[in-house]
Amino acid sequence: MEIKIAVIGGTGVYDPDILNDIRDEKVSTPYGDVELKIGKHQGIMVAFMNRHGEGHSIPPNMVNYRANIDALKRLGVKNILATAAVGSLNPLMQPGHLIFVDQFLDFTKFRQQTFFDGGSAGVVHTDMTDPYCPELREVLSLAAQSQGLTYHNGGVYVCTEGPRFETAAEIKMYRMMGGDLVGMTGVPEAPLAREAEICYATIAMVTNFAAGISPVRLLHQEVVDTMIQNGENMRKLLMQAIARVDIDRACACHNIA
Ligand code: HPA
Repeated sequence: MEIKIAVIGGTGVYDPDILNDIRDEKVSTPYGDVELKIGKHQGIMVAFMNRHGEGHSIPPNMVNYRANIDALKRLGVKNILATAAVGSLNPLMQPGHLIFVDQFLDFTKFRQQTFFDGGSAGVVHTDMTDPYCPELREVLSLAAQSQGLTYHNGGVYVCTEGPRFETAAEIKMYRMMGGDLVGMTGVPEAPLAREAEICYATIAMVTNFAAGISPVRLLHQEVVDTMIQNGENMRKLLMQAIARVDIDRACACHNIA
């Protein structure tokens, strides 16, 4: 059976305990092998991928984004719900809030950004006007509403190279440019999903106010702790959203050409 929906678990979302009948699967791609789990939620087959690998062993700048998205494509996945811990630059987006981002600003530096490397792979310039699937964002909003969760449908995600956190001046600059949130993994994951013609939405959870806005220095542990404290909300949202997505629908994301 094809697996049409996947969850990519980011920092603090390591456990596919929303699923039953879980099995391990290894998918080989031209970019490397990917290990993931496959299980069921309310009779729907779901793939669960750990973005940072076993025991959070892969930093954001070293994630093999192309292998991850290609592996999901090979399984037949048409919908990806990706979780992400983020810092906030926007006073209205507070720790524990969920944001279904609608735009990104890319400040990554050294990442493979495309499947289309020229030669036999071809040269493709993908439209990125709306990088996140509006239909999946709508499903997430309805799911969050039904669970009484605090959410924002829309927000500008700034992706940095990492793995260091930002300087106070960088955060000030990102804010002036219109950024709401900052994280290290959204790019190239979102554009690669679009190239692969897979609907993709990010569930960003604010774990902290960003550098220079927060009165204290940032620690990765603070990020992990906030994700764990709010883990139940993330689980509720994922379960509701998976049940609500029409996995067989046609969507503009499936036709980039
Ligand atoms: N900056 C970058 N990435 C993050 C942050 C942050 O403040 N919080 C969680 N991920």
